[in-house]
Amino acid sequence: MEVVLLADARQVARLAADTIEATVAAKPQAVLGLATGSTPLPTYQELIRRHRAGLGPSYDQVRCFTLDEYVGLPPGHQQSYRATIARELTDPLGIPPDRVHGPDPSPEGLASAGERYEQELTAAGGVDIQVLGIGTDGHLAFNEPGSALTSLTRLKTLTAETRQANARFFGSVAAVPRHVLTQGLGTILRARHLLLLATGAAKADAVAAAVEGPLSASCPASVLQLHRHVSVLVDEEAAAGLARREHYREVYAAKPCWQGL
Ligand code: F6R
Repeated sequence: MEVVLLADARQVARLAADTIEATVAAKPQAVLGLATGSTPLPTYQELIRRHRAGLGPSYDQVRCFTLDEYVGLPPGHQQSYRATIARELTDPLGIPPDRVHGPDPSPEGLASAGERYEQELTAAGGVDIQVLGIGTDGHLAFNEPGSALTSLTRLKTLTAETRQANARFFGSVAAVPRHVLTQGLGTILRARHLLLLATGAAKADAVAAAVEGPLSASCPASVLQLHRHVSVLVDEEAAAGLARREHYREVYAAKPCWQGL
């Protein structure tokens, strides 16, 4: 696992955008795994800014897979992750909706939705780079504490803490759906490169537990310790709980520039 400490959210966004662009430049048919939530938005805005300026790679052949989706929202709801990712990233990059996949929350297919999504991911050849955020309780995608470390895409129930955190998108806690479909921790581990982004003091404890704590279902993001290619991009506030932060700084400063993330 490589931990990169950066001054602020803007620098996190720049390096994340560089890394995603490098993946697409090296493999035009790359499969991008996309998180929603607030943390990746500056990264997505940076990708869009560069694309509009004619600086980024071509996204003509990429395919995208979202991490998770709410269950129980009316189709087309603005806070569904399908609508969110289209609005915040894929539409502005010109990636057509048929190249953007997400777990299907329609009520009639719910029982098989997880398995069908796993099949879609496999058929696409797997995710080349997976953008991830982290919950204040250590959740990864919507795998809440206690989730099996080998889990696959399935229906889950959100914790009260996560519903409270996401109430800002819905106006009230009561309006936040209780159920979600989420890639499992085992699904996420299959992606070839994991890019965890964390910014702000509220994430400091979760980042410390994920990166330096024990591997445990009590902190689902600690499963990243099992993956061979993880880049954790954190701003100073989110890095505040890391005991080895001076070491991470030294390692990154001494990194050969050809190596990339
Ligand atoms: C979103 C997702 C979640 C978020 C997490 C952090 O697709 O899977 O795990 O990454 O809840 O959310 P923000 O970035 O809003 O703090």
